[in-house]
Amino acid sequence: MCGIVGAVAERNITAILLEGLKRLEYRGYDSAGVAIFTNGGTLERTRRPGKVSELEQALENEPLAGRLGIAHTRWATHGAPCERNAHPHFAGDLAVVHNGIIENHETLRAQLKDLGYVFTSDTDTEVIAHLLEHKLKELGDLTVALKATVKELHGAYGLAVISAQQPDRLVAARSGSPLVIGLGMGENFLASDQLALRQVTDRFVYLEEGDIAEIRRESVQIWDVDGQAVERESVQYRDGAEAADKGEFRHYMLKEIHEQPAVVQRTLEGRLSQNQVLVQAFGPQAAELFAKVRNVQIVACGTSYHAGMVARYWLEELAGIPCQVEVASEFRYRKVVVQADTLFVTISQSGETADTLAALRNAKELGYLASLAICNVGISSLVRESDLTLLTQAGREIGVASTKAFTTQLVGLLLLTLSLGQVRGTLASGVEATLVEELRRLPSRLGEALAMDSTVEKIAELFAEKNHTLFLGRGAQFPVAMEGALKLKEISYIHAEAYPAGELKHGPLALVDNDMPVVTVAPNNELLEKLKSNLQEVRARGGELIVFADEQAGMTNGEGTHVVQMPHIHDILSPILYTIPLQLLSYYVAVLKGTDVDQPRNLAKSVTVE
Ligand code: F6R
Repeated sequence: MCGIVGAVAERNITAILLEGLKRLEYRGYDSAGVAIFTNGGTLERTRRPGKVSELEQALENEPLAGRLGIAHTRWATHGAPCERNAHPHFAGDLAVVHNGIIENHETLRAQLKDLGYVFTSDTDTEVIAHLLEHKLKELGDLTVALKATVKELHGAYGLAVISAQQPDRLVAARSGSPLVIGLGMGENFLASDQLALRQVTDRFVYLEEGDIAEIRRESVQIWDVDGQAVERESVQYRDGAEAADKGEFRHYMLKEIHEQPAVVQRTLEGRLSQNQVLVQAFGPQAAELFAKVRNVQIVACGTSYHAGMVARYWLEELAGIPCQVEVASEFRYRKVVVQADTLFVTISQSGETADTLAALRNAKELGYLASLAICNVGISSLVRESDLTLLTQAGREIGVASTKAFTTQLVGLLLLTLSLGQVRGTLASGVEATLVEELRRLPSRLGEALAMDSTVEKIAELFAEKNHTLFLGRGAQFPVAMEGALKLKEISYIHAEAYPAGELKHGPLALVDNDMPVVTVAPNNELLEKLKSNLQEVRARGGELIVFADEQAGMTNGEGTHVVQMPHIHDILSPILYTIPLQLLSYYVAVLKGTDVDQPRNLAKSVTVE
């Protein structure tokens, strides 16, 4: 989703801004722009639809140099992705970049037009620029004008502003869209994600909801939502920037798929004793809170929601705890009846997904027992605002289609299930010790699944000319099928649907013919025979089957049936293992189709707007 970078320094900052934008590319965007207060004393901008490389080329042809500037990657919400709508937006001698959505933009636009302001774009952001211009005329000081402006904005924003009138500073405001200040020596920076600034600093100050910041070369001043001057703690990262290159892999997505044994291992580290899960991995108050839990409500979006759906099977089967799972965009607007002693669990890779965050904020008003975030970003809003946290250790995920984040979320959710069962005494005897043992073996089992890479690559050829596919699964493999279908549609643009296999004859069977491959995952469990019957229904209609089956399931290749043998695994862990071939399948189909695997069209990595 949109990205912001800003800098105020003694040196030329154009290259720093461009590098920052490149580091934010993984979030997804469709235009990019930069505004610089030039050494000649004028405010200039360059904007381009398309990739940052096109902006870079434009700046090579007509360079802009200066010591104060802001830059942006835009993911279109209001108005098409064209140069006119790209940020920064100018008003008078101001330049503004904005992440988020201004909900009252139409009212404000009408008022500003009545006052004589002329609009040149279709964006909600330009409204902020003119409102700020208006306030600046009235109040004379940029920071004061920004404080007055945000009071009139409804919606979500991360804002960065510069002005040719007061070129000694960069001003910023955060409400619903993250911003972080990067601290330098005699220079300071701003970005929507610290990753954008890791090339210039390792010291950061995170703005909190409602904060306004005035950033100068030698100082940073912050005011909170009540207008009080505040000190915000700075954090320093010493872990070194994580490798942001593809290494030997052609795409980040493939690299991230292959990282799964290592990141699952990392997610388990320090969280298991000899034969138990260490409940305190969820925080010091976890044991006391978990003892009170009688229900679990999980809320998440997309892939993270699929992880939650798998967890429902685990929580009810292993820990005997009733569990509901809902997509955040529905949950947040629904009148919810909260059962007593319900733990509210959010799952998110980024921890900044607008709907999930809003759902958490609503939940806090609704009387849940406590909130727990399963998240991959320790400094995210979701983590900061939750009572308990379990950080997945997937490392930075750059491919827009989530892979390693999903499998580490599943690991985190299984740790949660075992912890709740342990504390509440609801696990069957010996189950925890067995599963802890199986979890220890999981990284090497994932390695075995990854070794099937070239087999899956061949299977992918069956899909290259197809327009529709069906994914089937039963039990906890149904959400795995949903995740497989989501991956395929996201990156190959092939229409893919997932169904519980038992639902086939209630409708979707009508779609099956020899042009619609049917993919299924078949671990060796008590549902296997039922699944086999469902697959017969497909074959009988000429449907071509691709089955990822347990090596002990007794399934073999036949006419129209392609069976890929999977290593045997404990049934509870099978959703994690069977995810791997489905990820590989969608990856190789996308490669064959020549799509942009790491940055699929219309999608963003971190969905920070509603
Ligand atoms: C799909 C994908 C998305 C995200 C969803 C939630 O591959 O990545 O469906 O899972 O946008 O994002 P997070 O997990 O960051 O809340």
